[in-house]
Order: sequence, then structure tokens, then C-alpha cells
Amino acid sequence: MRLLILGGTWFLGRALGEAAFEQGWSVTTFNRGVSAFDLPGVQVIRGDREQPGDWSRLAEHGPWDAVIDTIGYVPSQVLAGAKALEPVMGRYVFLSSVNVYTGWPNEPLNDVSPVFDCPPDADADFGADLGYAGQYGALKAGCERAVVETIGTDRATVLRPGVILGPNEYVGRLTWWLARAERGGHLLAPGPPERPIQPIDVRDVARFAMRCATGRQNGSFNLTAPVGHATFADLVSACIDTTGADTEPVWVDPSWLVERGVQQWTELPLWRTHSGVWNVDSSRATEEGLRCRPLATTVADTWSWMTAGGAAVTGSGEASRAADHGLATLRELEILRAWTMRA
Ligand SMILES: NC(=O)c1ccc[n+]([C@@H]2O[C@H](COP(=O)([O-])OP(=O)(O)OC[C@H]3O[C@@H](n4cnc5c(N)ncnc54)[C@H](OP(=O)(O)O)[C@@H]3O)[C@@H](O)[C@H]2O)c1
Repeated sequence: MRLLILGGTWFLGRALGEAAFEQGWSVTTFNRGVSAFDLPGVQVIRGDREQPGDWSRLAEHGPWDAVIDTIGYVPSQVLAGAKALEPVMGRYVFLSSVNVYTGWPNEPLNDVSPVFDCPPDADADFGADLGYAGQYGALKAGCERAVVETIGTDRATVLRPGVILGPNEYVGRLTWWLARAERGGHLLAPGPPERPIQPIDVRDVARFAMRCATGRQNGSFNLTAPVGHATFADLVSACIDTTGADTEPVWVDPSWLVERGVQQWTELPLWRTHSGVWNVDSSRATEEGLRCRPLATTVADTWSWMTAGGAAVTGSGEASRAADHGLATLRELEILRAWTMRA
């Protein structure tokens, strides 16, 4: 099996490469060589998705049985890549996002919920009026169209993950919670503890993507852990247990946190009160073989990666996203004091 991974060095792309090696596949990666180290043993083709000539140069190294695209964010670029690769590949698996749904994060979602309307040849400035998340989602919807209309419905799979966690995560979501748990003391935990959450392990996404690369899973699939897979309390207690620190969660009323201006998703990573954010139906993927490991395993393996030195990352601009996540220590203390004194 010859697999081409567009990207292939950092988070999901790296997990894909590792999983493909385990299966004995031959792997080619396409990237600029900026963000992270190459996986040993892969055929590396350097190139930039923004340069149309790089797509035709890449195609000269084919054919491949399958392409898994982790780097598509701008429809016109994805269109150029899909057109160049279509003659030299079998199946195409495109990594999209639940952000394509106009209802995310406000409404429960399934695989047929309405998506943004974006042309398959749109440029990066399309949807600038939609805000960061809306524009990201609209552009991803255009990328999906670029893939499906170029490759054909019988050879294309679109995967729409929610939040992905696991070793090599660079956004600073689970890694922040783990680092915070290790620091000890009273930990501000956004209630309610029983809030369901659905993060998916990067290795489970990789495994399902490979399944789609070899199988006949056409169409689009939501990729989240099933509703009810875990709760926020499971996340917090797994972080405390895994780090072994003397840390005690203090569960705080979420409306009170919102009133105090605590930033959801960033200051307290993975915390969001919108009713649709963790209400994504991924049963279609489950029927096609998606299996999600326990959240505690994801937490423990991410901690092992962190404590072993972490980071395949070499330090491009993206790595600085981690700096935007997490609550500053003094602010956490102030909030906890105000919560205790509120009566
Ligand atoms: N992370 C999540 O929680 C999440 C959730 C939903 C969906 N997704 C989707 O999943 C996919 C994978 O995301 P990820 O965060 O795991 O990323 P990733 O696999 O770590 O991908 C980054 C890769 O893209 C390459 N790259 C960046 N700019 C490039 C360019 N101009 N030309 C060629 N290659 C380039 C990078 O290498 P170089 O920088 O060296 O070029 C790196 O190999 C994305 O499509 C994302 O939208 C992620």
C-alpha cells in the first residue's frame, strides 16, 4: 500500500505516518519542512500548498493507492492539489472539521446538518465577515467541495473531527490541563462536573482515516468520541490522577465564570457552554468501524509524551498558539477567592 500524506510531520499527520508504518505501508509526505521533524523512513517531498507548481512536481512522484490530506484550509489551493493528484491516486481522504456546520457550536449536529456554502475555488479571503471560526468552517466547506467535485463521490471521503487530543498536540488544550494539574493546589474547574465532552484521540482519527483510505467509506463522517464517552470531571480527574499531584478541583458555576469574563475555549481550554459543542452525532463513523479509546488513556499517553521531553515541534509560528491557551496563575487565584467569598 502506497500512501501520500499531505502534511505528515506534526500532530494528526504524524500519527497517520506512525500508524501507516505499523501496517507496513510505504509512506510519502508533502510539506515545507518547517513545523516539525520528518518521520524516519518516509519519502519526503518538500513543497508548499500555496505554490501550484509544487502540486504538479509532487504528482510526478506518484502513483499512490491513497492520499490523506491534513493541510487543506483554502479551497483554491485544495482544488489545485486535487486536480494535480487525481490521475495518480486511488482514494482521497480529506480532513475537514465540525466547523463546516453553520449550527456549530450552538446546535446538536449529525452528518446531514446544514454546512456553509462556499465555492470550491474560493480564495483565503472568502467569508472574512464570518469571524475566525465561521471563516475557518466556510473555507473547509469549500475545500470539501473541491475534493469531492474533483475526485468524485466514489473515491472521496470527508472526515469532520471535533477536538482532537493526544501526543504531539500543539494547541495547548490537554497539555495545559495536565501542566495545571501537576502544579497542585486548588484547581478552578468549570462546572458542571457531569458536562459530557467528546474529544477524540489523534490515533483513533488516524486509524479511521486509514480505514477510509483502503475501504469504501464514501461521503462525510463526523469524527468525535460518542456522546456520553466522557465528562469534564473525567478529564479533570484523569489529569490529576495521571500527574499524581496534590490537586483538588473546585467546581465553579459556569454562568458565574461567563459573567466574570473568563474566556471559553482559550482561558479554560475545552470548556464551552454552548449546547451543541459536545453534542455531535458520530454514529455513522462508529458503524463504519470508528473505535475510541478511553479518555484516561489519551491523558496518560499525552503526559508520558510531555514528560519524555515532548514536542516533535521545531518552533514555527503555529507553536505559539499554545501561549494563547490557559488561565494565568494569579487570575485563577483571584477568581477562586471571589468564588469562595461570593456569599
Ligand atoms: N487539531 C484539531 O483539534 C483538529 C480538529 C478538527 C479538524 N482538524 C483538522 O485536522 C487536520 C490536521 O490538523 P493538525 O492540527 O493535526 O495538523 P498537522 O497534521 O499537524 O498538520 C500540519 C502539517 O501541515 C504542513 N504544512 C503547513 N503549512 C504547509 C504549507 N504551506 N505547505 C505544505 N505543508 C504545510 C506542516 O508541515 P510544514 O509546516 O513543515 O510545512 C505539517 O506537516 C487539519 O486539516 C485540521 O483542520 C484538526
